Amino acid sequence: MTDLEKMRDIFPVTRTKTFLNHAATSPVSKPVADVMKKLIDEAVSFDFGSKEWEDFGKPYFAQLINAETEEIALIENTSVGMNIAAHVIQAPRGAKIVTTDLEYPSVTYPFLRKSLGLNVHYVRNVNGKILIKDLEKAVDDRTAAIAISHVEYANGFRHDLRAVSEIARRHGAYLIVDAIQAAGAIPVDVKRDRVDFLASACYKWLMGPSGAGYLYVRRELIEKFEPPFVGWASVKPEVFETTDFWDIWKPQYSETASRFEAGSPSIISFLGARAAIKLLLDVGVDRIEKRILALTDYLIDELKNAGFKLQTPEDRVCRGGIVNFKVKNPQKMQEQLAEKGIIVTARANGIRVSPHFYNTEEEIDRLVEEVKKNRETA
Ligand SMILES: Cc1ncc(COP(=O)(O)O)c(C=O)c1O
Repeated sequence: MTDLEKMRDIFPVTRTKTFLNHAATSPVSKPVADVMKKLIDEAVSFDFGSKEWEDFGKPYFAQLINAETEEIALIENTSVGMNIAAHVIQAPRGAKIVTTDLEYPSVTYPFLRKSLGLNVHYVRNVNGKILIKDLEKAVDDRTAAIAISHVEYANGFRHDLRAVSEIARRHGAYLIVDAIQAAGAIPVDVKRDRVDFLASACYKWLMGPSGAGYLYVRRELIEKFEPPFVGWASVKPEVFETTDFWDIWKPQYSETASRFEAGSPSIISFLGARAAIKLLLDVGVDRIEKRILALTDYLIDELKNAGFKLQTPEDRVCRGGIVNFKVKNPQKMQEQLAEKGIIVTARANGIRVSPHFYNTEEEIDRLVEEVKKNRETA
């Protein structure tokens, strides 16, 4: 078996579907399913064999984004993480939040709550790209934060986070990043790119279950903020490890990012997430990115040869794993492809294709063939 065949073997979905939809909700691998099934069995007998889940995958997520474990908090999903960030920065009323017109609602909504009284400014895309010069123009000294996705959900535009963070720094603004369309597909490096907050769930490119996500908060910022939701999980570990009776008068918040956690996490979700991230780290994120870019280069060539119009910027540095192209009736096309076992999503008046490292050129061929067959009707 080649390496690729071995990998495909641990993703059982490859036997029944041409799954090219990792920007939506992904299937899980066999090792991920196995640890979760094992936990269910252990829960039935209340006989927990392994304690490996106790770190909830924080060290692996930290490694994935080049952070410290202490900088990671458990969250249910990306949206919760973005809300925590929007809340704790305590931007004064009237302050500017700079975002883009390519964002997912979970990036913009947390700043649009009326009670915050913020001025949310949308930088407009130019042919699917957000230009650094336009961000530069938009950010000023009244800007409290730049809130963006590392990779945009609909057309897959990839921001140069380092360039964005330089703009933020110059004006004393925070950089708040939604990484759900990046983590697991391309390298994410919060230290290199000087990110202040970053949130991601695990059910897309990380190929874990839903219900598990991580929030990164830069070390120097953690103790500056009072958490918005508090409970037993927010306090220093020594408090809940050594006391029979809780101090219910004066919470001593953790010095780590766990101060942003309030109560019990979904153990089964984090156990699955932990195994999923470990698998990707074992394969190597650089290798994964290379493979994804090779597959998407191939897809782009095939689509262009067939005369389809791309909605994703073609330049390699401007994209991750998402390729979007125009069709007449995206919803109908999505359905017709699904009937053939080819899974993609209709987005932004086009079809969004999002292959992962275990997909093959043959699967891309199958997709393009079907799209060509259906192009008159859909
Ligand atoms: C960029 C982006 N952010 C957030 C989400 C939703 O994240 P969650 O369900 O983890 O809150 C999505 C889902 O499609 C997304 O594409």
